[in-house]
Amino acid sequence: MKTTVRTVTAALFAAALISQAAFAETKAGLLLPKSGNYAALGEEIDAGVVLALEEAGMADDIRLVREDSEAKPPVGLAKTRKLVLQDNVDVLIGIVSSAVLGAVRNFVDGAGVPLIVANAGNVDATGKDCSASIFRVSFSNAQLNRPMGTWMAGQGIGKVYTLAPDYAAGHQMIEAFISAFEAAGGEVIGSEFTPFGKTQDFGPWLSKVGASEADALYVFYAGGEANSFLSQYRAFGMGETVPLYGPGFITSPLQTAAQGEAAVGIRSALHYIPSLDTPENNSFIAAFTARFKRQPSEYAVQGYDAARVLIEAIRVGASGRAEIAAALPGVRYTGPRGPLQIDPATHNIIQNIYIYETVMSDEGITQKLLDTVENVRDAANGCDLR
Ligand code: PHB
Repeated sequence: MKTTVRTVTAALFAAALISQAAFAETKAGLLLPKSGNYAALGEEIDAGVVLALEEAGMADDIRLVREDSEAKPPVGLAKTRKLVLQDNVDVLIGIVSSAVLGAVRNFVDGAGVPLIVANAGNVDATGKDCSASIFRVSFSNAQLNRPMGTWMAGQGIGKVYTLAPDYAAGHQMIEAFISAFEAAGGEVIGSEFTPFGKTQDFGPWLSKVGASEADALYVFYAGGEANSFLSQYRAFGMGETVPLYGPGFITSPLQTAAQGEAAVGIRSALHYIPSLDTPENNSFIAAFTARFKRQPSEYAVQGYDAARVLIEAIRVGASGRAEIAAALPGVRYTGPRGPLQIDPATHNIIQNIYIYETVMSDEGITQKLLDTVENVRDAANGCDLR
């Protein structure tokens, strides 16, 4: 009797070990802002992650440990340390703010924990400060703005004024725009930065733009600031005199329902727009809308693709920090945004950039594609991780 019990117990134990090996749980730290100016962006990326896990039937195999970065660098770093040292996560996903990405870069690099960036465009993280542990499936701050600089000059726009929040992303986006715009013959006649996350009244800056000779205004604003900036721009009645351009976060499909008519007519660039008519995007939109009862935006796609590259890595057998990091540089597929590839040299993403106009249609606000710049790849800036 004893022997039988022992044999059965041993057999059960062995079976438990085998099933653990086959379905070894991966712990993923999800670091996103859930409060502050970028809170809605964090929720949207989270939704994209959840959809990808559920669609792949991996919701029980990848356990999410969520932390709120508040989009503040010291908070982001403290939460990253907690996820890595205390929760012992295998991988980190998230980060919305370029400033938070800059703050966690050295710790992530030293700890050797793969970080799949699902928004923050900080160019240094995949350039001069690149890391074997940092991968990006969102966009870089230069990648969206260079094509807009070239395109706007090609439209015959001569003089431009720029505005953006005074932090890493604002500076990097505007710098990339200016260098491409000027190289193509444009002229930037004023460039100012507004205090980040605390500017309620953009009036003083809008007055300066209005009094200048600018043919157009180029801005980067996102989250809550995008909504307040856009409504004040409209209140100044500048739509006819100084048309507004920028990276498409200003009229992100996440926010156009709240913005209404104010968003219509703005021309901008993003790496994803919901109106792309491809089989991959149509099925993504159907799944996201069924699950969350709203249209997805670029932020949802970033969360979806961040989880998807992790799922692909796990499916080819990667388990634990080093194996996941080793599997990511080879990632390449066509998803909702079109073809995407992780650049093995920098771990940045290579993808199409879509120049579009926000328009009103019978079904409500949508995005009219004006131009596609294919397979945009950032300069390596000295980085070579191959
Ligand atoms: C950034 O800080 O890199 C950032 C934040 C919000 C965006 C885009 C970029 O929508």
